[in-house]
Amino acid sequence: MKRLAVLGFPVGHSRSPAMQTAALAELGLGEEWSYEAVEVTSEAFAGFVPAMAARGFAGANVTVPHKRAALELADEASEASRAIGAANTLSFELAEDGGVPASEAGEAAVAIRADNTDAAGLIAALPGSPKEGGALVLGAGGAARAAVWALARDGAEVAVWNRTAERAEEIAAELGASAVAAPAAADYALIVNTTAVGLRGEDPFEHLPLAPEAFEPGQVVVDMVYGEKPSGLLAAAARRGATVVDGLEVLVQQGALSLEIWTRRKAPVGTMRAAARG
Ligand code: ATR
Repeated sequence: MKRLAVLGFPVGHSRSPAMQTAALAELGLGEEWSYEAVEVTSEAFAGFVPAMAARGFAGANVTVPHKRAALELADEASEASRAIGAANTLSFELAEDGGVPASEAGEAAVAIRADNTDAAGLIAALPGSPKEGGALVLGAGGAARAAVWALARDGAEVAVWNRTAERAEEIAAELGASAVAAPAAADYALIVNTTAVGLRGEDPFEHLPLAPEAFEPGQVVVDMVYGEKPSGLLAAAARRGATVVDGLEVLVQQGALSLEIWTRRKAPVGTMRAAARG
């Protein structure tokens, strides 16, 4: 059995096990591969991950709060994860000299490889290319870093707004975007909310520099926040005729890309979406 897991703290609410288990079954890999949620504390993470290969794990998704730590303990890292400074996907591969005992326990040498599929997952979740019309990213945390890097890399002109303006200026300077203090929604073809606003049901328009009537048809609005109902931000955007994408769609797309890294098979995105929403 090849084991896969999502590592987080807490992780009980994660949709990844349902989504990935359905995908493995659809690919006919249900007998060979498994996917589970594993709660790992920040203190335990650096000790837990290097021991995973010996326990039969081929890879793992990594979620809050471990994405930075995951990159730090990797032997190799993709360009995306290095630029973003975080990894959401780990693969355990036999090292170049695989088979040579790496420890007195006689385990084979394993290299930990880090990828970041949050970035490409966001791009895959969009209905079209972000290149035309400019993009506004709200927030300056880890999710914002992945979004800004992905959009800039795809050729979009990216503006970053954050409640704490200095953080917006920092990530803009580092990732090739510009910071903006008072954005006008109509100036952007794409708006991506990566802040935690809306997570607890609060009114997004009290905290974000947007008005509920500011959206328009033709615009795409993404909210990384997701729950049972559309977020307040997406509900308002949809009412004005904008195209909306929720965080669950981004989760599905990043999960599909992670699965492709581990199995080298085309991911069944429709099955994964249905399982994630089910
Ligand atoms: P993540 O890694 O998930 O992006 P994070 O690093 O904790 O999480 O970042 C959370 C983001 O949400 C930040 O951009 C934060 O703004 P600050 O940098 O000013 O803290 C933003 N955020 C959280 N609560 C907010 C609120 N009530 N209003 C506006 N922004 C908020």
